[in-house]
Amino acid sequence: MIDLSGKAAVVTGSGRGLGLAYARALAAHGASVVVNDIDAGVAGEAVESITGAGGTAVAEAVAVGTAEAADRLVNRAVAEFGRLDILVTNAGILRDKVLWKMTDDDFDAVLTTHLKGTFTCARAAAVRMREQGGGGTLILVGSPAGQRGNFGQTNYAAAKAGIAAMARTWSMELARAGITVNAIVPVAATAMTETIPAFAPYIEAMRNGAPLPGFLRKGEGFGTPEDCAVLVPFLASEAARDVTGQCIGIGGDRVTLWSHPREVRAAYADGGWRPETLAEAWHTSVGAEPETVGIPAPRVPEA
Ligand SMILES: NC(=O)c1ccc[n+]([C@@H]2O[C@H](COP(=O)([O-])OP(=O)(O)OC[C@H]3O[C@@H](n4cnc5c(N)ncnc54)[C@H](O)[C@@H]3O)[C@@H](O)[C@H]2O)c1
Repeated sequence: MIDLSGKAAVVTGSGRGLGLAYARALAAHGASVVVNDIDAGVAGEAVESITGAGGTAVAEAVAVGTAEAADRLVNRAVAEFGRLDILVTNAGILRDKVLWKMTDDDFDAVLTTHLKGTFTCARAAAVRMREQGGGGTLILVGSPAGQRGNFGQTNYAAAKAGIAAMARTWSMELARAGITVNAIVPVAATAMTETIPAFAPYIEAMRNGAPLPGFLRKGEGFGTPEDCAVLVPFLASEAARDVTGQCIGIGGDRVTLWSHPREVRAAYADGGWRPETLAEAWHTSVGAEPETVGIPAPRVPEA
């Protein structure tokens, strides 16, 4: 049994979607939770649903992305519950456009919420957890788009790739303090994904009570927010004290370990390469099998 009683958590963007499922899962395993959202209405409803189920939660409505917002969240956990043990940096938005149409505002809004929101909240949490002693758990939220790139998602892919890089960096910096840092890479039916054309009919059927087909749950690793949420109490538990610096995929019936970027092929030239020798050697040596880009299209079986 995973028991998080006595532990306090902050989950950003937890008024709905995946964040709500993470907050509920933490509370169901005994943690006290600060529910954060930019939308005070859904944050309040989330707290009611958690307390109605016998859990402990309070709402702190603020837009993450600044040091002030991060301090408010950490201070609220300490004021209400006396400590902070778990932070999940989940808040996020999309502003999808191809590169040549993306505005500075589109870029800044996504980078501020995801990348700066994750940085500022994790920094405030790390300061508190290091002072407190006894370790802690930082769970950052990546995306397949950040791992592989995705058409129309310059801003989002950059932010999510940056978040995976920060998880690897912070896992080293915070190891001595016993604070684990991982990036989870969820895939689930939420407001963010219900418009993906290949998934839309199945999500609608699911909302009407039909189960998601196996090709989605296993093949695509796509399911409900609750399917993803199981990872959060696990990572916050004693059973995962040695799990750090990883990017962990979760969705439907599937859990995966993402590889980290690494050099996969090398070629050598005595004394160094020249443009001409590279041109000669490229297609038969390191460039012979280029890496793929993008998220593979879902393999929907023929009807
Ligand atoms: N749904 C998926 O399949 C999927 C896949 C990969 C990654 N993710 C990531 O998971 C996270 C949650 O996604 P979701 O699908 O549940 O999205 P969602 O849109 O359903 O929920 C996001 C929540 O964050 C809140 N929010 C937005 N900006 C905020 C801010 N500045 N401060 C506080 N709260 C803010 C929103 O109000 C909303 O309640 C995001 O980081 C997203 O990028 C989701």
